[in-house]
Amino acid sequence: MFKAIAFNGSPRKNGNTHLMLSKVLEPVAAAGIETELIQVGGKLLHGCMACGKCRENKNNQCVITSDPVNEYIAKMLEADAIIFGSPTYFSGVTPEIKALIDRSGYVAIANGRKFKHKIGASVAVHRRGGAVNVFDSLNHMFLMSQMIVPGSLYWNFGVGRELGEAANDQEALNNMKDLGETIAWLITALHNTPKI
Ligand SMILES: Cc1cc2nc3c(=O)[nH]c(=O)nc-3n(C[C@H](O)[C@H](O)[C@H](O)COP(=O)(O)O)c2cc1C
Repeated sequence: MFKAIAFNGSPRKNGNTHLMLSKVLEPVAAAGIETELIQVGGKLLHGCMACGKCRENKNNQCVITSDPVNEYIAKMLEADAIIFGSPTYFSGVTPEIKALIDRSGYVAIANGRKFKHKIGASVAVHRRGGAVNVFDSLNHMFLMSQMIVPGSLYWNFGVGRELGEAANDQEALNNMKDLGETIAWLITALHNTPKI
């Protein structure tokens, strides 16, 4: 079974980032692909300690075991597509999603570039400004991990402040639907293509 996994970096579980990620996953699920949306924001995720132990141990894990990042890494290694979502906080990503990016990205590279040729996509939400920076930041690990990052109708972000307000951003909803359709198409296409 193919799988797409999304991580919500917002501490607001049912907020605008969750909404955008759900809209991306809808057409993926409709194509018969397993989907999962994991709440990361609001959890106590430790940042990367730069200890280098993942490069020594090569066991697909981070040495920090006080939080669920290793569980998330295991799911990412199984997935065909990984999707990050974050609200804009002072023009940046949330610390929880940043911790996940740094630790999962480093562990994957340390273990033989395990994210190679997986699909990576990101969505951001802002009230007024900074989402382009968040979108860029979320994609940086993908783009140096030999991953395939699909484009859509615009850069993947929605506009809204209060819980659920981004539901009024029809252009963003169309964008997320298109992104999900492309992810579903890519997952199938890649599985029918010989590995290089
Ligand atoms: C600490 C903090 C910083 C924020 N900084 C920005 C910002 O720089 N630019 C912006 O447009 N909105 C900013 N916002 C607003 C959120 O990005 C916006 O409310 C968004 O919809 C939240 O997404 P969520 O519902 O998924 O939590 C900030 C909100 C918080 C709590």
